[in-house]
Amino acid sequence: MQKNLNLTNKTIIITGSSSGLGLEAAKRIASLNNTVIIASRNEKRGRKVEKEIGKNSYFMQLDVSNKESMDNFVKNFNKKFSKLDILINNAGIMLHPPKKTEDGTEITFATNYLGYFYLSLKLIPNLVSSSDPKIINVSSISSYHVDKINWDYFNPIKKISSFKEKREIYAHTNLFRLMFSIELQKRFNKKSVPIKSIACHPGVAKSQLGRYFFLAKLIYALPVMVSSREGVKSIIFSCINQNLNGGEFVGLDTKRQHRGNPTIVKPNPIVEIEDQRNKLWQMTSEKCGIDL
Ligand SMILES: NC(=O)c1ccc[n+]([C@@H]2O[C@H](COP(=O)([O-])OP(=O)(O)OC[C@H]3O[C@@H](n4cnc5c(N)ncnc54)[C@H](OP(=O)(O)O)[C@@H]3O)[C@@H](O)[C@H]2O)c1
Repeated sequence: MQKNLNLTNKTIIITGSSSGLGLEAAKRIASLNNTVIIASRNEKRGRKVEKEIGKNSYFMQLDVSNKESMDNFVKNFNKKFSKLDILINNAGIMLHPPKKTEDGTEITFATNYLGYFYLSLKLIPNLVSSSDPKIINVSSISSYHVDKINWDYFNPIKKISSFKEKREIYAHTNLFRLMFSIELQKRFNKKSVPIKSIACHPGVAKSQLGRYFFLAKLIYALPVMVSSREGVKSIIFSCINQNLNGGEFVGLDTKRQHRGNPTIVKPNPIVEIEDQRNKLWQMTSEKCGIDL
């Protein structure tokens, strides 16, 4: 594991920390004497984790697929905490059965992507007063699977129901998270906002991610898979590595990046296309009703 010198006495929000990588990250970060906010949609599971971790952990209800819930979360956070050092956007779903949110948005798109965008922008005023503020955006190697962006996800005409469609939307949301992370840093630099925006991926690690699809559930529990403790290394690296300036994609140092040690990697070439990133920002900003 990396040195922990830069990760102590911080206040850190981790979305989706009631299971898998988020839970592992919460345990590890709390053990280093940081205050960890267990931002979980499920109160029962969130409280259980709060109790399990004990000292340094606070449950706060948050559903990242719901704007009102994110607004309430930020209000409640402001009442309770005077500073925020790191936001870790980690909550996510994969191969979810067809479902729309209350406002009619496809559930994977809302949870995996719009939630990252909206919550990050809402919490910027909290982050700027930290001495070393960061937004860590968890993405995936599935971001490499997109050859051409399908912009229809912003206004899906048909239900996402086949396995192929579910895989495609998952890959797209991971590409969007990454494009957002890099574009956010560019916009921070332009406006001299002192926050670092860093994207990372865990490889392929044991977790509850496959829960919505029988085969995936089996795969994500296979003994040959790396543990969530291993999988969380890139998230911790992104939190502590002082050589990161923001705008990086932290992946793993092996060919397929399924497992390995954290290192800066090249993203899908689409991420480098400024027009595509700007278009994504514009469309997301309009959809979420928020801008930097
Ligand atoms: N595991 C991997 O190999 C892998 C690889 C690449 C990327 N990732 C990414 O890593 C992140 C964490 O996934 P994981 O593997 O740890 O899976 P996981 O065990 O299923 O954890 C996902 C977490 O997200 C939470 N969540 C889902 N929808 C939410 C919502 N609307 N609001 C708030 N929280 C919500 C879940 O909460 P509940 O407990 O309430 O369901 C859970 O705590 C995901 O973004 C995933 O895309 C994972």
